[in-house]
Amino acid sequence: MSDLQHLLAIDDLGDDFRAILEWAIRFKQDPDRDYDFKPLDELSIGCIYEKPSTRTRVSFEVGVHKLGGQALTLLKGDIQMGKSETIADTGAVLSRFLDGITYRCFGHEMVEELSSNSSVPVINALSSKHHPCQAAADLMTIMERNPSLEGERVVWVGDGNNVLHDLMLACAMLGVDCVWAVPKGFEPENDVVNRAKEIAKKTGCKMTQSHDPVKACKGATIIYTDVFISMGEEHLTDKINAFEGFQVNEELVSNANDDYGFMHCLPAHRGEEVTDGVIDSENSIVFDQAENRMWAQMAILTYLCNQAAFQAYNELY
Ligand code: CP
Ligand code: NVA
Repeated sequence: MSDLQHLLAIDDLGDDFRAILEWAIRFKQDPDRDYDFKPLDELSIGCIYEKPSTRTRVSFEVGVHKLGGQALTLLKGDIQMGKSETIADTGAVLSRFLDGITYRCFGHEMVEELSSNSSVPVINALSSKHHPCQAAADLMTIMERNPSLEGERVVWVGDGNNVLHDLMLACAMLGVDCVWAVPKGFEPENDVVNRAKEIAKKTGCKMTQSHDPVKACKGATIIYTDVFISMGEEHLTDKINAFEGFQVNEELVSNANDDYGFMHCLPAHRGEEVTDGVIDSENSIVFDQAENRMWAQMAILTYLCNQAAFQAYNELY
């Protein structure tokens, strides 16, 4: 096990990523898990939000409670940070009270600043650049369908955004081929693509960029999309025009394998990046994905905040 303190991007988990997901899957299915395993007993986790959230907020609150801890949701308008106090001072102060902090912010540098001034683990709960908790739940969901992950071809259709960044890194870490079909000008950031390609060289899988969604979807086992306009980009009203031909609809998914899984981090803008016919189809696994946010985060919290308990639980099996 590493001595990792913070989780800002999914590749921070390094070689332990697969073990964390296997832990989450085992814990989710364990009929005895609620009796006496409370690794966050007496621990308090502060959850700061500068943007709205449904899944992240509820999954952290419920997940921390199930592990025996206390979650404090701290909304931007209710705390001093960013108004009369710096992020650095907030990190130092909260570290005196809390045992862990999750932070949903705008610029990625904000969560970097909080983590470098906090002595307790900081988990990125979505920044402009990364969404590691989402990627953990996503790969957990794919592993539930196919534990070995062999033969998976994950195809992203849409914007080169925060969710794609961690999805490609997560695929690379687990040796899963990943293709992203994005419009010209909306490619993922080079430093993330380079990181993913470096990891993929070691795990023996392919990371491929495309501008052609139809070609990309051929042979897909998973098709994944997200909103075309992310939180914080609402002013970019013309951006949507670049995504003609990138809607995940019945015609596009007919190129995938028959038993492909449709994924979306949610919230979905139905009729924009995905049609009702696809998201409501039998191939859709979006609600398993949403539920798995909680199980994956419970594994991550235990791993970061109580590593002895993380290992002890593994040794029971
Ligand atoms: N997928 C996700 O992070 O959802 P929320 O914005 O509702 O937390
Ligand atoms: N890319 C989206 C993901 C929302 C969960 C955003 O950042 O708004």
